[in-house]
Amino acid sequence: MSEKPVDSLSESEAAAELKRLAAEIAEHDRHYHAEDAPIISDAEYDALARRNLAIEERFPDLIREDSPSRRVGSPPAEGFAKVRHAVPMLSLAKAYTDQDVADFIERGRRFFDRDKDLDIAFTAEPKIDGLSASLRYENGVFVQGATRGDGTVGEDITANLRTIADIPKKLQGSGWPDVIEIRGEVYMTYAEFEALKQRSAAVGGQDYVNPRNTAAGSLRQKDPSVTASRNLKFFAYAWGYTTADPAPTQYDSVQKFKEWGFKVSPLMVRAKSVDELIAQYHKIEEQRSSLGYDIDGVVYKVDQLELQRRWGFVTGEPRWAVAHKFPAEQAMTTVEKIDIQVGRTGTLAPVARLAPVTVGGVVVENVTLHNEDYIKGFDSNGQPIRDGIDVRIGDTVVIQRAGDVIPQIVSVVIDKRPADAVPYEFPHTCPVCGSPATREINEKTGKEDSRRRCTGELICAAQAVEGLRHFVSRGAMDIEGLGAENIDLFFNSGLVKTAADIFTLKDRRPAVTKALAERREEQARLREEASGKTRKNVRSAEERNYEGLDKLFAAIDARREPELDRFIFALGIRHIGETTAAVLARQFSTIEELIRVGKETAKAEDPHSVFPSINGIGDTVINALRDFFGNERNDDVLDALLAQVHPKPYVLEISAGSEVSGKTVVFTGTLEKMTRSEAKAMAERLGAKVAGSVSAKTDLVVAGPGAGSKLKVASDLGIEVIDEDTWLQRIGRGG
Ligand code: IVH
Repeated sequence: MSEKPVDSLSESEAAAELKRLAAEIAEHDRHYHAEDAPIISDAEYDALARRNLAIEERFPDLIREDSPSRRVGSPPAEGFAKVRHAVPMLSLAKAYTDQDVADFIERGRRFFDRDKDLDIAFTAEPKIDGLSASLRYENGVFVQGATRGDGTVGEDITANLRTIADIPKKLQGSGWPDVIEIRGEVYMTYAEFEALKQRSAAVGGQDYVNPRNTAAGSLRQKDPSVTASRNLKFFAYAWGYTTADPAPTQYDSVQKFKEWGFKVSPLMVRAKSVDELIAQYHKIEEQRSSLGYDIDGVVYKVDQLELQRRWGFVTGEPRWAVAHKFPAEQAMTTVEKIDIQVGRTGTLAPVARLAPVTVGGVVVENVTLHNEDYIKGFDSNGQPIRDGIDVRIGDTVVIQRAGDVIPQIVSVVIDKRPADAVPYEFPHTCPVCGSPATREINEKTGKEDSRRRCTGELICAAQAVEGLRHFVSRGAMDIEGLGAENIDLFFNSGLVKTAADIFTLKDRRPAVTKALAERREEQARLREEASGKTRKNVRSAEERNYEGLDKLFAAIDARREPELDRFIFALGIRHIGETTAAVLARQFSTIEELIRVGKETAKAEDPHSVFPSINGIGDTVINALRDFFGNERNDDVLDALLAQVHPKPYVLEISAGSEVSGKTVVFTGTLEKMTRSEAKAMAERLGAKVAGSVSAKTDLVVAGPGAGSKLKVASDLGIEVIDEDTWLQRIGRGG
């Protein structure tokens, strides 16, 4: 095949060529994906795709609606492949006040205190309210794009990201690293959001809540041509794995991104002082309403990459960056009624139902009123309580919502209170099961608990269903595909009464299918009613055969041997959160041992005579364990459950990999290559414990010049003493 070089194509030749390539590639896609029978080699296919791209790059105005670069292959059959990020995608620490920003800078100055005249510079740029994405370029070619996911593992959405015009398929200019993951934010402009809403309304389609959620939905489309139609945008602001730093500073790196063909925020500046940063914050805030897209704050980053590396990270966040958030948005609305929800442990939680109002881009209709005292504004002794608010049905209230924070009532507009509004009367019986709802006396303080609780326990449907929802939830058994909605359905149709029933669902397949079918029919009917249209192509239940069902059963089976800490947490014992569950798992190693000790503790007059003293476990937890294991009803539930599920014995994972992991280290004297806090942070990252003084428990002393008495103690105790260079070598940082 003799093809004319791209460089010598005229515009009309290029247009014709793009048309031919689009048709040809589509044909090959069909052979490959739909028929599973490609008729050319992958290399030949790639050559066609590359030629198409090269022509598009030379003639961007000629890019076709049906271009293969916009629509790569066929949509994946189901879901997206997982991508493990070579470098985790982090989140940012938050600052709310100027003082928080000053503190951030002060922390930096203290951390680097060894370099007295070190000039720390910072960058300031808008925090875009979209979704972060990571784009991998190999030899300048975009090869893979992923969502953030949980920060460690995201989803492969390459095909969708390719449809975004702001994302170059090939880097422009020169000097890019062999491999680099460019990171930034995918977002939707207000104009595009409004246009989409109108298009959708015109055909009686779905409503869209806000640009951010819509952008998220658009990125997760199975069909990339849908993503393409949403005209998403992208700003590059960071990077992950790379074979070389783009430039020595953050600012210059981002300027490089621009040279390589990315859009970068025009509002990014470099600054030296708190005042300059705050000035930029206000400048960006002033422009916020005219930008045409959502931003929710300003991000400050240490400019010098060398200093970023030295300052390092804390759990999931860089120490060298902070997001200065804009103040919460507020709005006024009215309280239409107050409902009581019953939680997993029987807590009666009041919720205000509001006249819907838009705050910070989302419609708010419900807001929690916390508890009985909060609504009255004072406690049972008549003392006013902090943040308490006398809220009445009919009241006009100011609500606020900040970013991802849940909405709350800030104040009641007393002037607007209806003349007949009466203080809310909190119920003394459970609205679900009718059992008495009481307030317990806290044993320690002698004070009444602020929450009123239903005493019905398992006879209370609300508590049973909440317990089941908790059991399958993320931090607990984490059963994929079995969310709150399905739990409610199975509970209400009598298929699942206790946790053990979940594991026998498979044996009742016809009943499960029937329940799901009925729900689908009901939902379809409601949709029809709402839209006033009748359905076409109604498939019968048998036809659909609930493809998801096998997957659901498989997901349930996959959790038959859960980690012990998850299992303990899943039981939903009062006061036992994830952390406490992990402590108990470590202490008792098996579920049988925990049950044995729990039961004996329940029987004993003095629980401490049986229950070992464990760091982090106090009387509240011990009493909760006593209540749980002393309750015979729980015995049956547990026995049935353990017939289905076998929690794995807890095995302590020793974080290998570092020679100093698990060791106790003391630093003394002057360190010359780093500050004390830097050394400490580094050691802790490697799993070492850093102590302030030398004792028999010390494993290693790192001594610099001027080390005094600690050195003597160490040699008296026969503890190993090394100098800074040896330390650096040992932790793999030595030169
Ligand atoms: S930097 C290592 N810069 O905010 C630092 N993040 O709260 C990584 N975001 O997940 C993030 N605008 O989705 C950075 N100019 C900006 C940003 C930004 C928006 C998002 C990003 C990240 C989240 C962290």
